[in-house]
Amino acid sequence: MTGEMVIVLDFGGQYNQLVARRVRECNVYCEIYSYKTPIGKIKEMNPKGIILTGGPNSCYEEDSPTYTKELFELGIPVLGLCYGAQLMQHILGGKVERAETREYGKTEVLVDTGSQLFHNVLPSTICWMSHFDYISRVAPGFTITAHTENCPVAAAENAKQGLYAIQFHPEVLHTQEGTKMLYNFVRGVCGCAGDWKMDSFVERSIREIREKVGDGKVLCALSGGVDSSVAAVLLAKAVGDQLTCVFVDHGLLHKNEGDEVEAVFGPEGEYDLNFIRVNAQQRFYDKLAGVSEPERKRKIIGEEFIRVFEEEAKKIGAVDFLVQGTIYPDVVESGLGGESAVIKSHHNVGGLPDYVDFKEIIEPLRNLFKDEVRKAGLELGLPEYLVFRQPFPGPGLGIRIIGDVTEEKVRIVQDADAIYREEVANAGLDKEINQYFAALTNMRSVGVMGDERTYDYAVALRAVKTIDFMTAEAAEIPFEVLNKVMNRIINEVKGVNRVMYDLTSKPPGTIEFE
Ligand code: XMP
Repeated sequence: MTGEMVIVLDFGGQYNQLVARRVRECNVYCEIYSYKTPIGKIKEMNPKGIILTGGPNSCYEEDSPTYTKELFELGIPVLGLCYGAQLMQHILGGKVERAETREYGKTEVLVDTGSQLFHNVLPSTICWMSHFDYISRVAPGFTITAHTENCPVAAAENAKQGLYAIQFHPEVLHTQEGTKMLYNFVRGVCGCAGDWKMDSFVERSIREIREKVGDGKVLCALSGGVDSSVAAVLLAKAVGDQLTCVFVDHGLLHKNEGDEVEAVFGPEGEYDLNFIRVNAQQRFYDKLAGVSEPERKRKIIGEEFIRVFEEEAKKIGAVDFLVQGTIYPDVVESGLGGESAVIKSHHNVGGLPDYVDFKEIIEPLRNLFKDEVRKAGLELGLPEYLVFRQPFPGPGLGIRIIGDVTEEKVRIVQDADAIYREEVANAGLDKEINQYFAALTNMRSVGVMGDERTYDYAVALRAVKTIDFMTAEAAEIPFEVLNKVMNRIINEVKGVNRVMYDLTSKPPGTIEFE
């Protein structure tokens, strides 16, 4: 990465990625590194500023994460947050102690607005606190610049040396003026110009990809999801017909999704790339016939997908580069970036697929957060329906059909889902609800249509509000909207005579209905 950068040193806090995102919102490029990163590497990167995150430990305990004092003597501004603030004080000769009670939640903080960090911040401002330990005495050379009713040192600084410590969490939106404080640090104290923008990212990436690829051949597995689509367009803009995109239509996509992907990337689309659509629908239906256990279905779809891709790759022959749509949270959550526990082991980080003959992997989105990927997609001219697509599991409708999968059931759930999405959008709720879809229960029951008795399927509607997709609540869709969806599905989708709304939150449920 060229240009100016701020480094976030991660001490295991839960908000580490948020810190980096907020810094980038100030148009300053930012990367997360573990606190175990040697000082030599940090010097090499020559950042304009360093931010120490929070963390679950007590800095005065022997085995707690720490850092060499030299960090504060580099002449690079340092901002410590929560644990990072306490650690800074502890290392530089201040005192940190256990408080009798934890200070937690939204708290009124009185700040010295003469501090550069609090420039333009109100003298009394609401901040998010979450700490047991507190700074009872600041290190020599520091002055106190903020306090609360219970916390004598909510912020302290040694402005001459560019060292700032704050006890609360400016990165969390509950801290009303937090982004302003981070802006004051990176743009004010560190003097960053703020030239990290999506158009410069796009331009620079295209240049870098061209240099790297030369006249080599590039292969990309395109799923139609946001990440792989944006990665593919970047590559297409950079190397055009040296790129081949393989799009496997497994017949478990949304209604018309295969054609939509083809319209953008295929011969009628605007990109000059080699596009291969593999219509493997029947292969997948055959493999899935009679299988109802969800994990088994996932395995079958995953394995078959690799097999189809492998066959196509063999036809193309050896390639030089394989493109993957890895994004920054994948990298951090796999334990490669920061310090957070390994939440999931993403298959596309670290382990390389061994079924395609290639020399090197290209991951053009490896440093971007999801919302930045979307911005890059818009910048690259991708249509909004692709850029703002909801999460969609790799096994697709295969797991949104309870019980065994048949072509007929796929058709039912596709049609019902399309109606549901259309009506949610008509009601103007599509931006509010984070994920929503129709699923097909495996239940048939008796109904009456006209004068006829029916014995048909029940469709389940799912809609959730969530921030991180780890927990979720059922969305409160107005009854008239649900009613309209129900009416349309029953009238328009053959084979359905009942529609139900799933009220379950996560936990105990999952977001998917599988
Ligand atoms: P659950 O159902 O576990 O889903 O609450 C959480 C989020 O993950 C998405 N999901 C997947 N995404 N491959 C994916 O890329 C998958 O196999 C997969 N399974 C679930 C789900 O849609 C939700 O957003």
